[in-house]
Amino acid sequence: MSSRGYKAWLHYEGQLSNKGLAKWADCFRSIICIPGERGGVLNTAIGELASGIEALTGNKPEVTDAASAVDRKRCIAAGIIGAMPLDGLAISLAEAEQLPDEGFIIRTIDNGDLCSIAIAGRSERGLMYGVFHFLRLLQTEGIGENGFNVVEQPAFRLRMLNQWDNMDGSVERGYAGRSIFYRNYELLARSPRIKDYARLLASVGINGIAINNVNVHRQETKLITERYLPDVARVADTFRAYGIRLYLSVNFAGPLELGELDTADPLDPRVQAWWKERANEVYSYVPDFGGFLVKADSENRPGPFTYGRDHADGANMLADALAPYGGIVLWRCFVYNCQQDWRDRSTDRAKAAYDHFRPLDGRFRDNVILQIKNGPMDFQVREPVSPLFGAMPNTNHMMEFQVTQEYTGQQRHVCFLVPQWKEVLDFDTRLKGEGTRVKDLAAGKVHPYTHCGVTAVSNIGDDDNWTGHHLAQSNLYGYGRLMWNPDLEAEAIAEEWTRQTFGGDAAVVETITGWLMESWGTYESYTAPLGVGWMVTPHYHYGPDVDGYEYSKWGTYHFADWKGIGVDRTQATGTGYTAQYEAENARVYENLATCPDELLLFFHHVPYIHKLHSGKTVIQHIYDTHFEGVQRVEAQLASWLSLEGKIDEERFRHVTGRAKEQLENAKLWRDVINTYFYRKSGISDEQGRTIY
Ligand code: GCU
Repeated sequence: MSSRGYKAWLHYEGQLSNKGLAKWADCFRSIICIPGERGGVLNTAIGELASGIEALTGNKPEVTDAASAVDRKRCIAAGIIGAMPLDGLAISLAEAEQLPDEGFIIRTIDNGDLCSIAIAGRSERGLMYGVFHFLRLLQTEGIGENGFNVVEQPAFRLRMLNQWDNMDGSVERGYAGRSIFYRNYELLARSPRIKDYARLLASVGINGIAINNVNVHRQETKLITERYLPDVARVADTFRAYGIRLYLSVNFAGPLELGELDTADPLDPRVQAWWKERANEVYSYVPDFGGFLVKADSENRPGPFTYGRDHADGANMLADALAPYGGIVLWRCFVYNCQQDWRDRSTDRAKAAYDHFRPLDGRFRDNVILQIKNGPMDFQVREPVSPLFGAMPNTNHMMEFQVTQEYTGQQRHVCFLVPQWKEVLDFDTRLKGEGTRVKDLAAGKVHPYTHCGVTAVSNIGDDDNWTGHHLAQSNLYGYGRLMWNPDLEAEAIAEEWTRQTFGGDAAVVETITGWLMESWGTYESYTAPLGVGWMVTPHYHYGPDVDGYEYSKWGTYHFADWKGIGVDRTQATGTGYTAQYEAENARVYENLATCPDELLLFFHHVPYIHKLHSGKTVIQHIYDTHFEGVQRVEAQLASWLSLEGKIDEERFRHVTGRAKEQLENAKLWRDVINTYFYRKSGISDEQGRTIY
């Protein structure tokens, strides 16, 4: 496949920014690879550099090994620190050695008429990231008079993605076609698409992937057996060439499910031996296998609770099986009662993860990481940050985000999530005094975690353009970029993605970047208000259904009646959830006077006439945001339409179609929400607009 959509942000055509280029242009004629011996990721890096330069300049560079060309100037010298002679490259060894494994330096050397460019990685992976970064810079900023002086390293050690792909070829919460990994219970182990996906991920710094759904069904349970391991190994080879480690989700009841034992009790020696044998076999096929991802005792998945054991018992048993090989257990904290009685007001789903896991701090092995969703509920458009993150100083942590737009418009609506993730990463937990931000915790700067980082549910499928909506590619791209450097501005990420994906025309860049940057707020404005969440069609999670989850077993309620709405999670009169935060944050959320408007209904039940900090009443805020939200989508569609002729026909038509659907769906949201609250409250819109 070679369409624009398929090539995503790596199509390079006509993308070379011309700024100051002349001076450096000669360098693009040859690449010297240092050292000369090549294989694996180094090969990938040099191959990407050569083909990227060719696509950008129209000239195929000559690629030589150091041995034959060590003294040549006017070139790009690409190599690994420690193995490459640094003389003449303006890089000092001391400086280079301070970089972690995945870091790199890009530096231009201006010797009058003999200019050259150095790309030096601390490891093969570092070099590969340096190459992708260099190509990105050429397309976005361009190489100016002064050249480049870049030193980069990733903020987080683990930067993962989780595929929620099933072996029947479906993708749970997938909105971009079928799985690229499986068809009819077989792995598509030789599919070129997997390689192309690995390349996209490597270009934005992803270094780990779990390739099957966390809900591990019968057939997927066999992925860790000889039936599938040869194919798993092939997929691992493909990812390895791009510096990405492979992980598998496993079924905690594996020994039972496969009929080999009559129990999955983690303290039973036969169960322990069974997992050790499985681990041994997995590593015989995939020597650098990353480890197991586990959803246990969650939404009807099996787990240690069945045997009266706790989650430390369960996770440690798997950790012991993986430890001899250096593998890790990614243990999810999405554990709550999904059989709740809606009449029971004493149970609060938001409290569940903290209540289950916090008491276990210190009991997990060193090679277990708790994988904690960014909010306490489930990837809503607006939630507070999970109070569990950082609250277990003696237990490894990673944050789980959702790139796939399950609750945020399912890739039919534009919703660029980087600003949301950035808010989460910037959140000050205050757990070790002011300035204990989530991003510092995830980077291992606060507690001495042996493993830490970030992960996210991917948003791709076998649609030609990967993500269903062309603009949803920006979320995959943005996830990688932000997790490499959480200090990047969301807007800078949106803009660099747009330039690489749609070209540098000023109107195109401004319009698409603007649309992306507004999109999360826009989506929030016409859907569930003020942090209350849900109000979506049950199970599908697309489109409005205000009471869809209200009397259900899922623990997801808004409690709207004729007087007011919201969930009282205060300590004073509610569920006491606020107490899970550090004292100062707890005070902010507990108190109506300080609780931020956007989270008001997450923490409080208030009358419709309650005045927000904005000065509006809750009911008027609901009406206003819902009318405005639709107007914003109308304006976004209009400015997109003004780009006709500046964007290739296929993508223009496709995005236009989706934007029109978004508009219709936004109107439905507006009218259902406004009508519902008008009927409940009996309070009219101050502006007398149409409410049904
Ligand atoms: C959500 C989602 C499920 C998913 C679950 C999870 O509830 O709707 O499809 O399995 O999250 O994260 O495990």
